[in-house]
Amino acid sequence: MTIYSLSIEELKNIVKDMEVKYQNINLIDHVKSRLKSPKSIIKKMKKKKYNLNYKELIEKINDIAGIRIICPFQENVYIVRELLMQNPKIQVIEEKDYIQKPKKSGYASLHLIVEVPVETDMGKVYVKAEIQIRTMAMDFWASLEHELKYKNSNVTKQTSKKLLKAAKVMKKLDYEMSVLANETR
Ligand code: GTP
Ligand code: MG
Repeated sequence: MTIYSLSIEELKNIVKDMEVKYQNINLIDHVKSRLKSPKSIIKKMKKKKYNLNYKELIEKINDIAGIRIICPFQENVYIVRELLMQNPKIQVIEEKDYIQKPKKSGYASLHLIVEVPVETDMGKVYVKAEIQIRTMAMDFWASLEHELKYKNSNVTKQTSKKLLKAAKVMKKLDYEMSVLANETR
């Protein structure tokens, strides 16, 4: 867990450097991070029917270390993506663009699985981490949807429909805000 926690610190530093470099455009609103608890890791491994050993854990569970980068505008999401792709310190090993192709639930976000170098007593090791990049509107939607599903695991069809409708509003809001921002730039 220490290694995963160090990988989060490394990623946060990388993002801080970005923010300093792009101060003038308000690239990022805020950053959140979380370390998956051992209990949740085991729950996920059981759910996915993985063998409960460290090899499977290290190879298959990519989101023990997670950071979420929340941007004001959708364009910024792709600028952050580009900056991460170009960063020589980290290696992007997987990308899922749920902005271009939202999930059935309506969920939108850009996900990157990266490898982050971490210095340990035994030398440098590469740790996998999940980076979620999204707009404030996408984050607002995802938080509420998560809360609703968490509180009530069998959400009704009607609620899902309303969430999808709200996802459309979220998309429209992102678009309108980008248009406005571009007009005043
Ligand atoms: P997991 O088994 O959940 O890790 O799925 P995956 O490996 O296919 O990864 P994916 O990129 O689809 O999703 C990983 C993370 O994205 C989740 O842990 C959530 O934080 C977030 N996420 C994905 N889908 C949804 C969704 O429908 N609603 C919300 N609120 N969050 C989602
Ligand atoms: Mg995941």
